[in-house]
Amino acid sequence: MKDTTIHLHSAFQIGQVDPRIFGGFLEHLGRAVYEGVYDPKSAHADEDGFRTDVLEALARLQMTAMRYPGGNFASGYHWMDGVGPRESRPTVRELAWQSIEPNHFGTDEYIKLCRKMGWTPMLTVNLGTGTPEEARNWVEYCNCPPGTRYADMRAANGSPEPYAVKLWCLGNEMDGPWQLGHVPADQYAIRAQQAAKMMKDVDRSIELVACGSCTTGLPTYMEWDRVVLEYIGDLADYVSLHRYVGNRENDTPDYLAITNSIDRQIEEMDAVCRFVQARRRSNKRVYLCFDEWNVWYKNMQMDGEGKFAPHLIEEVYNLEDALVVAGFLNSFIRHADVVKIANLAQIVNVIAPLLTRGDELLIQSIFYPFEMYAKRRKGVALRAVVDGPVYVGKTNGTVHYIDTSAILGEGYLHIFLTNRSLDEAATVHIAPADCAIIGLESAELLTGPDPKAANSFEQPNVVQAQPFAEAQCKNGRATVQLPPLSVAALTFKL
Ligand code: AHR
Repeated sequence: MKDTTIHLHSAFQIGQVDPRIFGGFLEHLGRAVYEGVYDPKSAHADEDGFRTDVLEALARLQMTAMRYPGGNFASGYHWMDGVGPRESRPTVRELAWQSIEPNHFGTDEYIKLCRKMGWTPMLTVNLGTGTPEEARNWVEYCNCPPGTRYADMRAANGSPEPYAVKLWCLGNEMDGPWQLGHVPADQYAIRAQQAAKMMKDVDRSIELVACGSCTTGLPTYMEWDRVVLEYIGDLADYVSLHRYVGNRENDTPDYLAITNSIDRQIEEMDAVCRFVQARRRSNKRVYLCFDEWNVWYKNMQMDGEGKFAPHLIEEVYNLEDALVVAGFLNSFIRHADVVKIANLAQIVNVIAPLLTRGDELLIQSIFYPFEMYAKRRKGVALRAVVDGPVYVGKTNGTVHYIDTSAILGEGYLHIFLTNRSLDEAATVHIAPADCAIIGLESAELLTGPDPKAANSFEQPNVVQAQPFAEAQCKNGRATVQLPPLSVAALTFKL
């Protein structure tokens, strides 16, 4: 393969990388909460019933905003069921995933977990079967000082200090016909506007995420967003988008070219935001909240059959999936000016970087790119001009073999590189035009024996990140040798 050169200039800045693009998502779904983060019977349980082995692994990902409690679950959830003495919380039939929900984990446990982990809480209100008033009451429960009904309820449950939850989602995937309480755009817009107004009346400091199109595949794509944003107006701070991808045709080159389609989805969602802003002649810009994203196509077990903590959508991830996860992160960094929040869906057991089996824990391939990027997130995203060989993906079109993004910090440059070639190593030159690379500070590489290579409980170390030293720094530039099918994250001193 011909060499690739990445051209950069410190003045060509896209925008500050918002740390919240390294968020996660915890839903009451399958074994994400129970047997995932919360498992009082586990040998690893701490004094609050949280699984310390899971939390220690998650800490390595340095996640920021943690979205909760759903997902589809949120559209049937009544938050009052999950607060107060455990023994008086109701066990309910959960319809989104056909499961049994005992409500042993609710708002107070979630906030405790966020505090333990340093996560920013991000709550999704129920705008499917719930009411705008119920949403408003939840804001009071979380954010108001004692003295009124719901704030006093929180104090009585052990927390006189408000939880200060700043980020709230106005429902989940309300454009999807599968959603409990799904309605057409104009009806959702009315519900969301009513909820938003009351929620902000309770606490003016909160930020709200309106439900945008959750997939590019529905006939309402874009039109839903226009209707909703026009009606909600300045009450919306962000609009949500979701994306799950997969290699359904077993065409790895095309699968790895999915970055084109992710870039495009972001740009289209931004376009509808700008269009509505212009039509409304408003100064308020609505930004993007990519609050569910991941690879998901192999395990479609979504019916809990009336069980508690059933094994649902426990996807097993391989090397090519990890490269696609790196592609999502590259795309978010390349769009740092518009994507302000993003949440990997999800964090444990359910389409997740971690799997538990009894008291065992497995780290999956997709864990590593997230970890490699998250620890290099500080700085401003730079526009990277790639000069190098390309190929044509069957459905996703032309891409460079090397996918990339770059973050400039004070005195350092983070570069992320994915070699999408199945069989050829790549030589990549990093060429900053106005500053000099003086050395390599740290670097890791993720690769594996073949695209389908995956970790398992029996063989847990097949795909894992390794320290990487294949970079030469000379005359202010760096040259990196990348094996086929690999992701590298490098930090250079400037
Ligand atoms: O993350 C799993 C599910 O995918 C979420 O509950 C839903 O919002 C999406 O369809």
